[in-house]
Amino acid sequence: MIDIHCHLLPGIDDGAKTIEDSMAMICHAMKSGIKKIVATPHIIPGRYNNTRESIQAAFKKVRTELDRNNINIDISYAAEIRFDYVILEMVHNDAVPYLGSYEGERVLLLEFPHTHIPPGHEELIKWLLSRGVRVLIAHPERNRSLSKDIDKVSSLIKLGCLLQITGGSLTGVFNNTFKECAEEIVRRGWGSVIASDAHNLHARCPELEPARRAAEKIIGEAAANKMVFDTPETISQTHFQSN
Ligand SMILES: [Fe+2]
Repeated sequence: MIDIHCHLLPGIDDGAKTIEDSMAMICHAMKSGIKKIVATPHIIPGRYNNTRESIQAAFKKVRTELDRNNINIDISYAAEIRFDYVILEMVHNDAVPYLGSYEGERVLLLEFPHTHIPPGHEELIKWLLSRGVRVLIAHPERNRSLSKDIDKVSSLIKLGCLLQITGGSLTGVFNNTFKECAEEIVRRGWGSVIASDAHNLHARCPELEPARRAAEKIIGEAAANKMVFDTPETISQTHFQSN
């Protein structure tokens, strides 16, 4: 399986704090059947002011430690970018750590605030699309506005967004509203990818198999596998960052 959303780079967001945390998360992911990881630290202006350079520096620490311990895993980095008008500038300056590509377009992992969908989101998404940037919405089921109104999720699909479901939502790590919304998105075939969004080895750990099984019960094995194998593989094949 391939995990294209997790917070395992050390000390640059609310995920792994130390290189030891990073290594523990990677080892756990490998034991749980994850063969490839894209580390996606937060970029939240004012809170986590990460840039491609700061992310690359943290990634290099992990790469060095993996090599030193002869641990062989396919790993790269991108970012989870909070909705903010800074994105316009980042795209303009070619400073976006893209997740990869899909259907010929670059893919940006976009996170809305957890409480609402900000005004201007349609314009931003259309603006990005017009520049060949496809938006993959991080865990729409965990947004309080979207989780209560499936029609709002439908609007994002109509805008051309891809949706990433967080594994823990399907397995009930969060609340029932998020679980039911995640299940409905999967049932309707709107979810492109399941990712761990792992931050640690506790509540949100780097595992995908329990969520894959939960999705399998809803949409069958082939469609569930597509969400943890084929589509994340397709997206992450293109590396925009030089490792
Ligand atoms: Fe995340």
